[in-house]
Amino acid sequence: MMRPRILLIEDDASTSSALSKVLTGEGYLVTTADRGDDGLAMATRETFDLVITDLRLPGLGGLELVKQLHIAKPKLPIVLMTAHGTTETAIEATKQGAYEYLMKPFEADELLDLVAAAVDAGRLMSEPVELGEARSGQSALVGSSRAMQAIYKELGRVAATPVTVLIRGETGTGKELIARAIYQHSDRADKPFIAVNCAAIPETLLESELFGHERGAFTGAQARRVGRFEQAEGGTLFLDEIGDLNPNTQAKLLRVLQERCIQRLGDSTNVPVDVRVIAATHRDLESAIKEKEFREDLFYRLSVVTISLPPLRERAEDIPDLVRFFIRRYARELSVELPAVQAEAIAFLQRQTWPGNVRELENAVRQALLLAKPLAIGLDHVQQAVDKARRPEKISQQPHSAYIADLLASAERGEINNVYARMIADLEPDLFKQAIQMAHGNQAKAARWLGVTRLKMREKLTELGLHPRNSNAPDETSEEIN
Ligand SMILES: Nc1ncnc2c1ncn2[C@@H]1O[C@H](COP(=O)(O)OP(=O)(O)OP(=O)(O)O)[C@@H](O)[C@H]1O
Ligand SMILES: [Mg+2]
Repeated sequence: MMRPRILLIEDDASTSSALSKVLTGEGYLVTTADRGDDGLAMATRETFDLVITDLRLPGLGGLELVKQLHIAKPKLPIVLMTAHGTTETAIEATKQGAYEYLMKPFEADELLDLVAAAVDAGRLMSEPVELGEARSGQSALVGSSRAMQAIYKELGRVAATPVTVLIRGETGTGKELIARAIYQHSDRADKPFIAVNCAAIPETLLESELFGHERGAFTGAQARRVGRFEQAEGGTLFLDEIGDLNPNTQAKLLRVLQERCIQRLGDSTNVPVDVRVIAATHRDLESAIKEKEFREDLFYRLSVVTISLPPLRERAEDIPDLVRFFIRRYARELSVELPAVQAEAIAFLQRQTWPGNVRELENAVRQALLLAKPLAIGLDHVQQAVDKARRPEKISQQPHSAYIADLLASAERGEINNVYARMIADLEPDLFKQAIQMAHGNQAKAARWLGVTRLKMREKLTELGLHPRNSNAPDETSEEIN
């Protein structure tokens, strides 16, 4: 992935350089401006992934900047920094299109978590999803099987109308890609697309995330907050993992869908919202309804239109195209030459059952590419890659010394010559999984434990299908920036 570009607009030279240092250290490319008018001009002229701006600025204030920039580039995420006592203005800014605000003083971790989430949110909006085959872009729904063609047709049909859509399918079948494609082909494509992962946010915070809250609505609600529904005004809200909503929130969501109004927590005023909802789940909602875990009336509201993505094993004819697509993607990313793929290798991949669907295939192809370089990808490579993905389970069933002895014995027999890399690759998934669990989803904390950057953390979580989006819990203090 390319390093994200950030424009930092801050007139105080020492704050600006401290922030630049933190951001650069995390791998971002930072450009600075020290006046609001200059910043606005730069942001409009050049391409950035994120703008971070101070509120009080010479030339043009932060709030006005947010307003104008959001109109000029509605998909560019903006984070507003504000000093104590100006929260009302900051809240106003989130209604005007700012992604989020940060109250000074804040900690480096807080900033970095927010920046990572905002950059992600921006990419979801602006990176086009190509349909059928990939010509140029990064994101594509690849596959020309009948099943996928039916999906593209359905997608074209529902995109144009603002109906609620429910996307169903096993894990890794491309639900998120479909949601983005619907948005991009809709008449709301120039308005925001905001994704909320209902499973990744602690229950107690989810309602406030969705609907916002008034100051003092609950312990810790120090300032008002504008919810994602209000932020998505005129646009599209993607509610991912909707099957994981608790009954209380289900009831509130149902009301919003029926009445097209939200109520902020701690306030009974009805605020009208014009938001198109797209929901997704891998869960069997019919069983959940039977078990009284999911409301039937909400199910009917959500599934005005349902798009069901077929598991990969039911469209094995798409595997050759998918393999070539992923090889191109990762060869570019790893800067290696495009290798050829042998027919037996493809045939082997087509025979697998792929419980993790396209995501699992993608990971296997990446692995095979690493094993094969700089040769053609053969049967051996893909067998090893698929085997590798299932090996971590085996590791946990035997002592590490036995596992290491196994690896070394294969090397001695001349079967492998990369024991070190394989050991790391085998253990990595567990390391990241356990760390994020122990840190209760707090990526900053987990990254710190492992001594990796947050970008790396997010990359790994995405690769493992662990939903890094919105999973930032509040953290204890680290370095403070004023
Ligand atoms: N048809 C497809 N063509 C190309 N890539 C795909 C396709 N379907 C899925 N992918 C890729 O597979 C990975 C998983 O896709 P996505 O996140 O959309 O799945 P999901 O159904 O939302 O999974 P989960 O239930 O785990 O959230 C992503 O990297 C995505 O780019
Ligand atoms: Mg998903």
